[in-house]
Amino acid sequence: MSLKGRHFIDLADFERYELRRILDTAHDLKRKQKRGEPHELLKGKSLAMIFMKSSTRTRVSFEVGLTQLGGHALYLSPSGTQLGRGETIGDTAQVLSRYCDGIMARVYGHNEVADLAKYATVPVINGLSDLLHPCQIMADMLTIEEHKGNLQRLKITYVGDSNNVSNSIMQGCTIMGMDVTIGSPKKHDPSPDILKKAQELSEKYDTTLEVEHDPHKAVANADVIYTDTFFSMGQERDKKKEEALMPFQVNDDLVASAKQDVIVMHCLPAHRNEEITDSVMDGKHSVVFDEAENRLHAQKAILVLVM
Ligand code: CP
Ligand code: NVA
Repeated sequence: MSLKGRHFIDLADFERYELRRILDTAHDLKRKQKRGEPHELLKGKSLAMIFMKSSTRTRVSFEVGLTQLGGHALYLSPSGTQLGRGETIGDTAQVLSRYCDGIMARVYGHNEVADLAKYATVPVINGLSDLLHPCQIMADMLTIEEHKGNLQRLKITYVGDSNNVSNSIMQGCTIMGMDVTIGSPKKHDPSPDILKKAQELSEKYDTTLEVEHDPHKAVANADVIYTDTFFSMGQERDKKKEEALMPFQVNDDLVASAKQDVIVMHCLPAHRNEEITDSVMDGKHSVVFDEAENRLHAQKAILVLVM
């Protein structure tokens, strides 16, 4: 099925060949951009970008990405629009659809991005919700392919808090044939609903999906170690949670338990020396800045294919 006109909200809505198409397009657009070849595939197109939460990478990659594609992106915040005065998401979606060719939104509740999609008549892209972060994982898989040459049968271990990023890893990496392990304290395991959905994908694509409560066992044999903040945007800091998660910190000792050529990833922003130490972030296994750059190329591919 063509991706044109589709919403990009939840990786579980896509088949392997569709995500493959996005990754191939991203590799191609990256090559073109590096060689300075023109690729203005979205000339004259506009994207409304709604940010209910802060962002560095998502905002800049979409905005710069669409500029490179010959289009234009608008940054919309609650305080600068009528959303902050209570105009509904549904009305906003209908209005923006009359001006723009796509809507990208970073929201709190996942229902907000789902509502946008319900009322919009143009494609809606999820730029992070409390539940999922699909655009991030496309950039991550692009990065893994660049460093490892392929995805299938590689083991990725996400260690730390089960959150939007780990939820999308369980979906996207499984669909693409990676073996996924989540290393988290029992109290911070993935939510049962999302785990069940990921297990179904794992059966469909014949991969393994495990939850492991010992961080060293979790990373044993890992080709990729991934982590993210202990406290996502909108969450209060909590001493008990921090204590439970500290043994899952990505430090030199933990990295030594994985394969020798393991790569270490983080969606960023990092809380240095909390979920990841300086020595690992800046060390030889880290690919975090390649990963950040790849947000640009992956986001461009999504824009080109859905818009
Ligand atoms: N990784 C990511 O989404 O970064 P931003 O919050 O800076 O957009
Ligand atoms: N889990 C993090 C990801 C930030 C890109 C958050 O939601 O804050």
